[in-house]
Amino acid sequence: MEDTLIIQGGRPLHGVVSPSGAKNAAVALLPAALLCDEPCTVENLPDIRDVRVLARILEQMGASVDYHSGCMTLDPRCVTSREATYDLIRHMRASYYLLGAMLGKFGEAKIALPGGCEIGQRPIDQHLKGMEALGAEVEVSHGFVSAKAPQGRLVGGEVYLDVVSVGATANVMMAAVRAQGRTTIVNAAKEPHIVDLANFLNAMGANVKGAGTDVIRVRGVERLHGCTYTVIPDQIETGTLMIAAAATRGDVTIENMIPAHMESISAKLEEMGVIVEEGESSIRVTDSGKPFSQTNIKTMPYPGFPTDLQQPISALLCVAQGSSMVEENIFEDRFKHLGQLQRMGAQYRVSGRVAMIDGVKSLSGSRVVATDLRAGACLVIAGLMAQGTTEITGLRHIDRGYDHLEEKLRSLGADIQRVQK
Ligand code: EPZ
Repeated sequence: MEDTLIIQGGRPLHGVVSPSGAKNAAVALLPAALLCDEPCTVENLPDIRDVRVLARILEQMGASVDYHSGCMTLDPRCVTSREATYDLIRHMRASYYLLGAMLGKFGEAKIALPGGCEIGQRPIDQHLKGMEALGAEVEVSHGFVSAKAPQGRLVGGEVYLDVVSVGATANVMMAAVRAQGRTTIVNAAKEPHIVDLANFLNAMGANVKGAGTDVIRVRGVERLHGCTYTVIPDQIETGTLMIAAAATRGDVTIENMIPAHMESISAKLEEMGVIVEEGESSIRVTDSGKPFSQTNIKTMPYPGFPTDLQQPISALLCVAQGSSMVEENIFEDRFKHLGQLQRMGAQYRVSGRVAMIDGVKSLSGSRVVATDLRAGACLVIAGLMAQGTTEITGLRHIDRGYDHLEEKLRSLGADIQRVQK
């Protein structure tokens, strides 16, 4: 028995919706709470599987966790475990954040390697390079990473990231906040969730400067006090909702979001002929009545076009006039959704990191499988705009990263149901 989303396509989305808290901020903030010397509270957490799994991991490590209705109070003072075993973290890709948090707090850590996933190899060499630059002795063996600060506490240093890596930037930042002395992270990622993590650490009394630029400076402190912190709105969920509104030729206002985070998506939708109007903390997407124009997408680190929205916007490109080029520069295997879109009538060609999508008049509903989180979002958007019925399985991927997506879409008029088949 597997849950299936059943979508009757062709209904324009109308109304007002708010995104949940950012998944990629939440999965960094919760491990970072381990660094604190007092209880702290994180609000506006998205209700997604990754957050629920993290709550269980932190509890099993000894933290006391009080989690209800998007708010989690964590007391890390009783954490005894310095290890996150495979059975704990195999459901959680972002478990590598426990390495930086435990190393920063306890001077030692042992975590099971996360391994690859559906979109690529996902190495963590930059994470390990960063920990070594802070004086840790790192060993990788038997599927685990073990790291230890020889004097029991990390020592600040200079970290140059060979690759702009969100995970490595966040992990090194976490490890550095309690290190002895100063740390500089050069070629740092600038994503909104990196800034959110820095703000959370500073709310606990850390000294992190420059987050959001490509040089982050950390001055280590002796202890961190409790705080209450609210997670930022999810940039990728907001972008997904914007694309769904455009694809169904609707009229949707997304409230309680940060328009500045959406610049690259807004620009691309406008290039395609969609009307995008920014408010103070809202964005309205409406249909211009014109055919969608083709456009070209190059995924880049923030503020470039986010790789996580490459798959969702591909659904819209399938019905644009002309051919669109999609260059996926971040991950090496992030085109699996195109094979599923082909079952709905999409036409495309892939050569290495570039996909050419040749626009067709419309997509037709079909049975498709979500191969990963954002591929699932792409297929939902495709189903919303296709003629006829689309059935999507592989929902565990979608549930990992979207908080009640079908309820939000139904509130905007979508005919979308989750059934057990
Ligand atoms: C984070 O993954 C996000 N996940 C991803 O979101 C997102 O796609 C990605 O950042 C880019 O924005 C979380 O935040 C939990 P990276 P992360 O390190 O940190 C290479 C989603 O759909 N690299 O910025 O793993 C890597 O292979 C997910 O929400 C190294 O070579 O991404 C990739 O090519 C998917 N060595 C590039 O850098 C390293 O040590 C960027 O990866 C680390 C990364």
